[in-house]
Amino acid sequence: MNPAAPVGVFDSGVGGLSVLREMRALMPSLDVLYLSDARFLPYGDKDESFVLARSLAAADFLVAHGARALVVACNTATAAAVPALRERHNLPVVGIEPAVKPAAAATRSGIVGILATASTLQSRRYAELLERFGGFARVIGQPCPGLVERVEAGDLDGPETSALLLRYLQPLLDAGADTLVLGCTHYPFLRPLIEGLAGPDVRVVDPSGAVARRLQDVLGDAIGGGGSLRVFTTGDAVAQAALMSRLLAAPVTVQAIALAEQQGAEEKRGQTPFPA
Ligand code: DGL
Repeated sequence: MNPAAPVGVFDSGVGGLSVLREMRALMPSLDVLYLSDARFLPYGDKDESFVLARSLAAADFLVAHGARALVVACNTATAAAVPALRERHNLPVVGIEPAVKPAAAATRSGIVGILATASTLQSRRYAELLERFGGFARVIGQPCPGLVERVEAGDLDGPETSALLLRYLQPLLDAGADTLVLGCTHYPFLRPLIEGLAGPDVRVVDPSGAVARRLQDVLGDAIGGGGSLRVFTTGDAVAQAALMSRLLAAPVTVQAIALAEQQGAEEKRGQTPFPA
């Protein structure tokens, strides 16, 4: 593995930056390629075959641009695509899943709320996660339609976002949940609001730090870049750059790319349609 080659990270939008900031805190010299598939956002209300096709296209792009490992910084894409990505690309693939295990271990009330997209909560992978790690806890999945769009609009604490969040949190709090899992990578950007609405007795669990540590394990000593960040989007590059700069509290330049719709699923395995 070339220690100076970049790691490729993708999400439907800016959500994966919550994972990226953990990666950079842990491995500052890592070079990163980040792809935001914002034209096709949100993934969370699409069917699994669509998210799979988008994920394959995103991964192909990142590999063609020199990625030596992939971080699927999206719970929805992880549920839909990680086995297929591992089959397609002979390199390490690290995904992110709702942190059921630590939440089930931490709860005192025995009730855990999982905030995630509808697609993640309907996935077989999530059902397996519950079966393996739910333990004795009652785990309640709460789909949160519209929340990703609030984050993409840059509204992290306004009245509209607050009202939407409260609608999703209230049933969990009423059920007695004392532990909430951020099961979508966009939601860590709402963490202050979530904590404020849920109150001090509720613990919030964010798996993004664990993803960064997993990547570090996978890369071992092979981290030798210059800490650069190259960002691509299928969406509006100017809007994404402004929002990303705000979320990372540093200037981010974003390059617009076209990543053909549904590309990936139909391609023959092994082809890389994008010149590096
Ligand atoms: N950030 C993605 C996740 O972690 C979902 C965003 C979307 O619905 O597009 O699930």
